[in-house]
Amino acid sequence: QQSSADLVRDNTTLTPDFPQPGILFRDLSPLFANADAFRQVVEQLAEPFAGRFDLVAGAEARGFVLAAGVAIATGKGALPLRKPGKLPPPVLSESYSLEYGDASLQLTEGLIPPARVLLIDDVLATGGTLAAARRLLERAGHEVVGVAVVIELPELKGRARISDLEAHALLSE
Ligand code: PRP
Ligand code: MG
Repeated sequence: QQSSADLVRDNTTLTPDFPQPGILFRDLSPLFANADAFRQVVEQLAEPFAGRFDLVAGAEARGFVLAAGVAIATGKGALPLRKPGKLPPPVLSESYSLEYGDASLQLTEGLIPPARVLLIDDVLATGGTLAAARRLLERAGHEVVGVAVVIELPELKGRARISDLEAHALLSE
């Protein structure tokens, strides 16, 4: 069996200068389309946190695919964190900056009872997305037990923005 880092590297595309000059775009679509690779990846994302979470949260859009996969693979529920304008009030909202522009994430206030949450995403770049997701979950009363991502881009130092959380990456380069 391939190591998870090799599996991720072999099933990911790298596109320079997209969506803006200077940004290296990573697409995990080939990994999602490879049934064996997808299963192995969702199992390995959850593995360090086994028995310590009740819900799996993911940020729209690419985080949804992985969070749903991890939830099903571990017998837990999924908690989607939405981009703005998708949910009716009352919503909690957290804003952040991406490498390319500003964004925010939203969650319906009071809808889902507080739980131990594992936070998942495809890529940890500047860490803005995961830091905002974490703030949003905590404002909603959840306990974020940790973060798991498929790819970490260490040169962007995103881990520093969630430094007090346990964080795992399958591929860091
Ligand atoms: C991408 C990626 C991560 C985030 C990482 O999402 O899926 O969620 O950027 O960057 P950061 O660590 O600098 O926050 P994006 O919002 O671009 O779009 P998506 O809807 O395709 O997930
Ligand atoms: Mg994303």
